[in-house]
This record gives sequence, structure tokens and C-alpha cells, in this order.
Amino acid sequence: MADLSRYRAEFPTLERVTYLNSCSLGALSVRTRAAIDQYMDDWTQLGASAWYETWVGEIAALRGKVARLIGARPEEIAWAPSVSAALSSLGSALDFATRDEVATSELDFPTVANQFQVKPGTKLAWAASPDGIRVPLDSWRKAVGPRTALLATSRVCYTTGSVQDMRAVGRIAHDAGAQFLCDDYQGTGVAPVDVRAMDCDFFVTGSLKWLLGGTGSCYLYVKKELIPELRPTHTGWWANAHMFDFDVKRFAYWADARRFEGGEVNMAGVAGASAALDMVLEIGPERLRRATEELVRDLVERAEDAKFAVGTPHEPEQRAGIVVLRMQDPAKATNVLAQEGIIVDHRPGKLRVSPYFYNTAEENAKLIAALQRHRLR
Ligand SMILES: Cc1ncc(COP(=O)(O)O)c(C=O)c1O
Repeated sequence: MADLSRYRAEFPTLERVTYLNSCSLGALSVRTRAAIDQYMDDWTQLGASAWYETWVGEIAALRGKVARLIGARPEEIAWAPSVSAALSSLGSALDFATRDEVATSELDFPTVANQFQVKPGTKLAWAASPDGIRVPLDSWRKAVGPRTALLATSRVCYTTGSVQDMRAVGRIAHDAGAQFLCDDYQGTGVAPVDVRAMDCDFFVTGSLKWLLGGTGSCYLYVKKELIPELRPTHTGWWANAHMFDFDVKRFAYWADARRFEGGEVNMAGVAGASAALDMVLEIGPERLRRATEELVRDLVERAEDAKFAVGTPHEPEQRAGIVVLRMQDPAKATNVLAQEGIIVDHRPGKLRVSPYFYNTAEENAKLIAALQRHRLR
């Protein structure tokens, strides 16, 4: 872990506060801020010609970096302003005529289910979580059947921090003839990804959290073999291979995943996301995982020693970067801690703490000591 400590100095936030909330919003680094400044300089100096001179190229470079990080090809990556937008474009291209169900779990982030809740002609099948911490494979077996078109779930649960065995979940989907989508917003960065090894058909992630790039830059992976048959009806002129002809009567989807893109791209988001991704790639997913795993183990041990109710799996291989403490009034605890400069967040009944490679064991200790001192349980 010590070899990553030099990166800490790149995050001014960490000098000011004890920041343990990367699962909500990763900290801003000096180099990411410089990239966003550069975007503003280009805007100032080049005006609209910045699109052609640099920005379109920067979007392509970003798709390439994302592909490298997740074991995909650049042609398999589409940029989107949010996971919701990516899912809505993808969902508009899927065929629910013969199979009308989407299997998802009670522990998934709401936007995954919401897409299909509102979609005429589709129904949800819920995989249950009996312990409220993880979703057992048996629950997926019960939720998936001959009417399942898609199984959509996250590798890392945003609300408990539990990690699913995505190969096993994907196999359940594929054995039933359904397609498989991984929402990896809480995994990518903190847990290495190989979309091919995971055998997912679709994959979404974004820059906000563990990829340290700030708001408004998300990514959709679509397996190469599936792209030609998918024709999103939630679309925009950036999905058109002839976009720069400006011929209003001519629309033909890009042959690659850009067919899932919409309109004008948020370049401030791209600038930040791309610079932050350089740091993530420079450190490497394996070192990020090891450093975070160590901090998470340290935090869980300290919390258990102090008799807090840990609501994250005990098995290290079932954890990523999120540690949850069950509490009476987690909103109050979050506020009290914030007044002491300790930043965490909360979900119903739970305090959510998310150390990342730039944090230290001393910061974990400070958090636990503050909770004890204020008798917050
Ligand atoms: C697992 C997961 N998926 C998706 C999202 C957010 O999606 P969107 O980009 O649509 O806001 C979050 C954000 O907290 C998340 O934790």
C-alpha cells in the first residue's frame, strides 16, 4: 500500500477533510482539475473549432482508455452522460416481443429497474435478498425463466458493498437463453474487470466514483457480436455514421457502439474523466484493488472490535470498496461526522463508508473513534 501514498498529495480535498465517500463521488485530483482547466482554455481560445481540432479526438481517446480498463475493444464502447441514459438507449434496442421479463434484484441501484418498470410491454422479475446483504444464486435461479429477456444487476451492491460472482450469475442468464447486463458503477476502478471473462453482453460504468473523473461521463459496453442487430430508437445525431454530412434525410447507425450515443457530448466531463482515467490506468486495477482491500479489511476489523453492526459481507472476496454500518439514525451520524470534517454518507438504516487507495488506516481509526465518542450506533 505504501507505494500508492505518493498519490495522496495529488488530492487537495484530503488535506482538508477525512474523505471516506468515494462510492458517492471520487475525490478531485490536481491533474483532473488541470485537464478541466485545459478544456476551458480550448473553449476560450479555439471556440467552436475546438470540436474538430481536439474534442472529437478526446472522446475517441476516452473510449479507448475505457476499453483498455475493462478488457474490451474501443469499438465496443459508447459514451453516455449517465448510466440512465446508456440504459435507456440500450433498452430501446432490445427485443421484448417474445420474452418480456427483466430479472433484477432488490439490492440493485434503482435506475436499473426503473428503465424497465416504465417500458410498455416489459415486466420485472425480482431476485430476493433474504439477508438484506447479498443476492444468493438461488434467488437468481428463481427469478429467471423462459420469459426472461435480460438479467440486469450490479457486480458490487451500492447499498451493502457485497460483490456478486458475475460469471455464475451470467451463466444462469445465458443457460435460460437470456442476455446479461452488468452495472459496474461500484466496481470499475476498485475491482479489476474483464468483460469477456465475465461473459456479459452489456456493461455500464461511469466516472463519478471509483474512476475519479467527476460528473457526467458514463460508458456502455456492448459485445461486438451483438452490435449489428441492435437498433436503438432512443437516439440522436451522434449515433448517425453520416453525422457530419448534415443531411437531414440520411440516417445510418454507426457500425460500432457509437450507435448508442445521443447528442452533443459534455466535454468538461470528458476532460476530467479522461485525465482521471490516466491515473487509474497508471496505478493499475490490481494495485487499486489490493490497496482498497487492505483498508476495507482494516475498517471492518476496527468496526467489529468496537462492536458496530457491520452490514457488509464478512468474507473478503465478497467485498469491494464499500463498508456499511447498520445504525439507528445514519443521517444524523453523517451530519455529526461532517461537522468534524469526516465525510461519509448514508442509505436507509446504514452508514456507508468507502475508503479508497488515497485513504489511510489512521483515517479509519479517526472515524471509529468519532462514532464512539458521539455514541452513534
Ligand atoms: C450501481 C449504480 N448504478 C448507477 C448509478 C447512477 O446512475 P446514473 O449515472 O444514471 O445517475 C449509481 C450511482 O449511485 C450506482 O451506484
